[in-house]
Amino acid sequence: MNRKYRKTVIAGNWKMNKLASEVKPFVEELRGMMPKTKSCETVLCVPYPLIPAASKAIRDSRLAYGAQDVSVHDSGAYTGEVAAPMLADLGVKYCIVGHSERREYHAETDAMVNTKAKNLLAAGITPIICVGESLDQREKGLTMEYVDYQVKAALAGIEAKDVKKCIIAYEPIWAIGTGRTATAEQAEEVCCEIRSVIRGMYDARTARAVSILYGGSMNAKNCDELLAQPDIDGGLIGGASLKPQDFARIICGTALEEPWIR
Ligand code: 13P
Repeated sequence: MNRKYRKTVIAGNWKMNKLASEVKPFVEELRGMMPKTKSCETVLCVPYPLIPAASKAIRDSRLAYGAQDVSVHDSGAYTGEVAAPMLADLGVKYCIVGHSERREYHAETDAMVNTKAKNLLAAGITPIICVGESLDQREKGLTMEYVDYQVKAALAGIEAKDVKKCIIAYEPIWAIGTGRTATAEQAEEVCCEIRSVIRGMYDARTARAVSILYGGSMNAKNCDELLAQPDIDGGLIGGASLKPQDFARIICGTALEEPWIR
């Protein structure tokens, strides 16, 4: 983390889990375990139908809610799609794009990720852009090359002032939902590389302003070591964000001044 230059962000990705009726009890339980002072931006990225319930439950500036995907289109005859202005209208402040599950199961391309990020920025929503290599790519030594390519493709044509508003999440595919976390060194190495790609595309000031998160089996036990890395500015959490106690523990991991919880 580096609080001097950029925001620390802990974002939960609920994926396709929970019902609208479960949001309020979750938020109430989570609130009771949050650090006394705001130590990070905390976001719950929920399925679309849960957004109104999240908006109602989260009447508190210490929490925000987000979505998990957005259409490449802004309006029109696109059955089943949800456009960025619709999310903005519901008060959504963050939206995940390019998650590996969407790339894999819904044929989301790098060009689509780029368009989605631009649509979100135009609607005043912060894109959380996911990148990350497969196990095969890692074993072949292609991690950096592939992640560099994904970052460049996702940010193509986005101006420096807007890139500063984006969040990048490094999620190695082999670590998602597998319980197999990247080591803090592996995660830092790639997050540092992502920052250097941004520096190359823009400049040092822009690169140091972008929050880069790690995601992939981050949990209450391994979060401290990951969050201690200089280029890891938070986490995108799947499984552990479904349990208030575990999610709260990760949030408390950003509150260095709150040792009471440890
Ligand atoms: P897990 O934390 O369940 O591995 O999921 C990570 C993820 O995909 C977050 O977007």
